[in-house]
Amino acid sequence: MGSSFIWLRRMIKGVTWKHPLIVAVLIILDPLDAVIRFFRGTGRLPRMSVRVRSTGIRNEFGGRQYHEAGQFFCRILKDLAGLRPESDVLEIGCGSGRAALALTDFLDRGTYTGMDIETVSLNACRRNRTLKRRGYRFDLMDIYSEEYNPGGRLKAEEYAFDYPDASFDVIFMTSVFTHMLPGAVSNYIAEIGRMLRPGGRCLFTTFVMDAGTEGYGIAFPYNHVDYCLFQEHFPEKAVGYFLHYLDREFGRVWCRRTGDPVLGPWRDVETVIEYPKTDFAQDIVVYEKG
Ligand SMILES: C[S@@+](CC[C@H](N)C(=O)[O-])C[C@H]1O[C@@H](n2cnc3c(N)ncnc32)[C@H](O)[C@@H]1O
Repeated sequence: MGSSFIWLRRMIKGVTWKHPLIVAVLIILDPLDAVIRFFRGTGRLPRMSVRVRSTGIRNEFGGRQYHEAGQFFCRILKDLAGLRPESDVLEIGCGSGRAALALTDFLDRGTYTGMDIETVSLNACRRNRTLKRRGYRFDLMDIYSEEYNPGGRLKAEEYAFDYPDASFDVIFMTSVFTHMLPGAVSNYIAEIGRMLRPGGRCLFTTFVMDAGTEGYGIAFPYNHVDYCLFQEHFPEKAVGYFLHYLDREFGRVWCRRTGDPVLGPWRDVETVIEYPKTDFAQDIVVYEKG
């Protein structure tokens, strides 16, 4: 599987999930994926041809990896971000609902709002019966991104979130700052600080550059003061951040880091002992609003 994936990556230039050949194959495989998910009890997950927009195509068939990552997100939100059944939660860059679906097993009186810039994934969330039944809300952000929304009208670095001050207990992002440059990240952090309630927490996954820039299958050789890039010609493909930058930007809005980052296994280090290994490999950082 590993070598055939590398062969496929070499053959296909650009973003894998957008390639017409890949899209056609995924659509053909969707019904089989649905049957497997039905027997695994994960029929509520979106179609594989939609899931890959959030996850990439590797190991996505059958949905096990998607399901396990969702459960992992729910667990770290409880353990590290103080998520409670009655929390009001905002997820920025919710994709096709990987975390939202897992949260339906835990959130009770609380509310969930998801936002994304990519229409196909967001519409899949809006149509999902489990998410609809729970009253989860999904808002589209019409923001430009070369990979995810080339027709977007707004700039992430100027985007104003349409929610009142102090309206959320938990705000989280999984694999989103990894696709954003500092101007945009600084704006989102300022808005997150505004929207968090005192004592509320922001959890996000990223590549923390302080702990090393070389990983298994990915490296960040293009070094800038606050961040490093995987590719210079396509910066938003993958971005890693230094903690001094994140601490400074969160500090401006009275948010303090709750502790050292939880280092994920993308550098080939053993993942955090207390969490079972999943294929989700990024580092985890948490800030709390004072
Ligand atoms: C790798 S996917 C992860 C999706 C989801 N968080 C998950 O873990 O399943 C990255 C997501 O971030 C979204 N995204 C990219 N740039 C964004 C931005 N500036 N604001 C909000 N979402 C963004 C993309 O549309 C995409 O859904």
